[in-house]
Amino acid sequence: MATTQLLSLTGVSKEFPGVKALDNVHFDLNRGEVHAIVGENGAGKSTLMKILSGIYKKDAGNINYQGKQVNVSSPFEAQKLGISIIHQELNLMPDLTVAQNIFIGREDRRKGRVFLNNAKLNNAARELLVELELALDPKAIVGGLTIAKQQMVEIAKAVSYRGEVIIMDEPTSSLTPAETESLFKIIRTLKAAGKGVVYISHRLEELNKITDRITVLRDGEYVKTLNTAETSISEVISLMVGRKVDQDQRPDLRPHNNEIVLSVEGISDQHLLRDVSFDLRKGEILGFAGLMGAGRTELARALIGANQKTAGKVTLRGKEVKINNPSDAVKAGIGYLSEDRKKYGLLLIQNVTFNTILSSIPAFSNKFGFLKTKPAGALVREAIKQLSIRTPSENQYVKNLSGGNQQKVVIAKWLTRDCDILIFDEPTRGIDVGAKDEIYKLLTKLASEGKSIIMISSELPEILRMSDRIAVMCEGKLTGIIDNKDADQNKIMQYATKFRD
Ligand SMILES: Nc1ncnc2c1ncn2[C@@H]1O[C@H](COP(=O)(O)OP(=O)(O)OP(=O)(O)O)[C@@H](O)[C@H]1O
Ligand SMILES: [Mg+2]
Repeated sequence: MATTQLLSLTGVSKEFPGVKALDNVHFDLNRGEVHAIVGENGAGKSTLMKILSGIYKKDAGNINYQGKQVNVSSPFEAQKLGISIIHQELNLMPDLTVAQNIFIGREDRRKGRVFLNNAKLNNAARELLVELELALDPKAIVGGLTIAKQQMVEIAKAVSYRGEVIIMDEPTSSLTPAETESLFKIIRTLKAAGKGVVYISHRLEELNKITDRITVLRDGEYVKTLNTAETSISEVISLMVGRKVDQDQRPDLRPHNNEIVLSVEGISDQHLLRDVSFDLRKGEILGFAGLMGAGRTELARALIGANQKTAGKVTLRGKEVKINNPSDAVKAGIGYLSEDRKKYGLLLIQNVTFNTILSSIPAFSNKFGFLKTKPAGALVREAIKQLSIRTPSENQYVKNLSGGNQQKVVIAKWLTRDCDILIFDEPTRGIDVGAKDEIYKLLTKLASEGKSIIMISSELPEILRMSDRIAVMCEGKLTGIIDNKDADQNKIMQYATKFRD
């Protein structure tokens, strides 16, 4: 079958104050094709797609769509053309239902009718969700859903426009393997129907499964377009970062220290957690593995007092402590880096400095409560350097940073505060391979300096690479703690599914 070009972007450039986000980039998409865009955090992937979907205006370049030169001047214009986008940072109304979010601001054009009541809206949503095989209740309030479920709402919403081009900006970053498979099924259906799909992901192993071509961007510049069948992940990585990255390491053996810093006994909560006990040693990285919903985030939240415990005892260096809220936790020297940066981790309309020192403000405010900007600035610049946060300066608004760089700001925030125990919840979600490496080095460094780290991660290679010991949870219970030297992916999966039938 001859390929039909659906879309082509040529010579696209875009500059933000202090940042050349895109410089003469081109990209094209055929009917029935899944075309990936990859690149490090801040490479310009989302910016290019925001231009295509009418959110940003390009400074230069052309967009040819179905053989015609077009000007996508607004998201509405993009919709009319048949271009829809699933945003990297979810864009839903938390107080509305699933159905209301899917059809927000739209009447039912298919039948020339207007939805007047929620019953009709719910039915239409239900039909769509059944078609897409997404397990969602149309009447559920979106704010109460997990991030994975919210991501599915975004997917349903994008498909509901029935357009020709669907852009997916990191759609799987918080999906389980099973949920990812159902998304792939949806993508294959779209492909078979002759639609074009743009697919952005940092999970490079997905590229082989789902894409036809891969375009690599680096520092806002076009690097190369590859046929997926003719390339390898390692070629893609070296084009992305300009060097080789070792993906399959185990931790260097750190000197063994048996001093127990934190001891958790019999923690339960109202919903999920049942009698969880473990010890955390000085200078160790204790990985927490398990399927999505196993209770790892709930455990972390119970530990720091963000969720209520119904039973359990927490002992810090031999002394029992009562942690009833997150500020008790911070006072006790326990820091928690949330998996949901938008909800708990960052103030998007503040700048990098503010966000970084957010958790340590007393140390940086003078007696009148104003920020001591000078010492804070130095510390923040140091953190920006250490984590290679891509930002023109520490005064940039966090909402203007790329997704991965926002995640780094969350990490920076906790580094500037002196906590002995750090809980990282999915620390590398949405982070590119090169930066992942930097974060791994950083965690290792923190541990070798004597900090104790709990690292919750759904990526088994990451768990195996980083953890001294691996705690595995299943359905709210801790099913085993394995020494790294005895662990492999199979064994972890066995513990992670132990109580399942
Ligand atoms: N509204 C904005 N104002 C200022 N700078 C911006 C804005 N949007 C993006 N940028 C900058 O443009 C560059 C490219 O960002 P973009 O979000 O496109 O990266 P990305 O490739 O999607 O990265 P990630 O993998 O982290 O999502 C970054 O340096 C970012 O900080
Ligand atoms: Mg992005």
